[in-house]
Amino acid sequence: MDPKIFNRFRELVYAKSGITLGPHKAPLVSARVARRMRALSISSHDDYLDLILQDDSGEELIHFLDAISTNVTSFYREPDHFEFLAEALQRWQKEGQTRFRIWCAAASTGEEPYTLAMTAMETLGPTLRDFRILATDISTRVLQKCLDGTYLQSKVQGIPPALLSRYFSRYNDDAEICYSANNDLRKIITFKRLNLATPPYPMKGPMDVIFCRNVMIYFDEGLRKSLAQEAKRLLKPGGYFIVGHSESLVGSAREFRVIRPSVYQKP
Ligand SMILES: C[S@@+](CC[C@H](N)C(=O)[O-])C[C@H]1O[C@@H](n2cnc3c(N)ncnc32)[C@H](O)[C@@H]1O
Repeated sequence: MDPKIFNRFRELVYAKSGITLGPHKAPLVSARVARRMRALSISSHDDYLDLILQDDSGEELIHFLDAISTNVTSFYREPDHFEFLAEALQRWQKEGQTRFRIWCAAASTGEEPYTLAMTAMETLGPTLRDFRILATDISTRVLQKCLDGTYLQSKVQGIPPALLSRYFSRYNDDAEICYSANNDLRKIITFKRLNLATPPYPMKGPMDVIFCRNVMIYFDEGLRKSLAQEAKRLLKPGGYFIVGHSESLVGSAREFRVIRPSVYQKP
């Protein structure tokens, strides 16, 4: 890809999603937009850029960001965070709390919000009534996967077998074995598109816990700071802001109490 064109793609990605693409990412961008360009029968990157910029509906921009975003995720990824959540929920329940709100801020294809839902069901059991998970992502493609809630057998390996049979229905789709999330999980999750690069976010809170894992690594310091400020606004006092293990709040840590690496608490 021509370096000038790559820079225009980079600037567009940064302006619209806050994602910072390193200078060596030209082959990645080229590979990721190739499929979309083929679908549109467009052969030049220049023409594709023009199409995105001239599309007033913003639809092509969404397709473009869908193609660019990295969606790696898995069930029970970084499992200590779910153990931490279970302990917090138990403690709050003992203190008499009956309303619980969790925001999963980069839900990807749904493995994280469904893991949050299983953790809540297992921890709060039949007392789980006023419990809601808001799961958001910038990519409409991954949100559709969240809504489908159906995963190949190879993707559900991280779910303990007892939970897999309790919360998922197994079926054969052609030659593949698939697992589909049961209504018990689905009914407590709301999926919505939300761009973390455009604070302030439209929610009011208060939230008990925000999972914002493995997405801030793509953002620059300015956006990380505004995200952390929004998290602070939305959390209840004593609520938790949880980031990925390879991430940290650095510049915004003063606003929070550091409970352990990657787990922060609103004072
Ligand atoms: C690597 S995945 C992490 C998924 C999950 N949180 C986890 O830790 O397994 C990053 C997700 O962030 C989303 N993302 C990237 N930029 C975003 C933005 N500006 N607003 C919202 N989501 C964004 C991507 O679409 C992708 O699904």
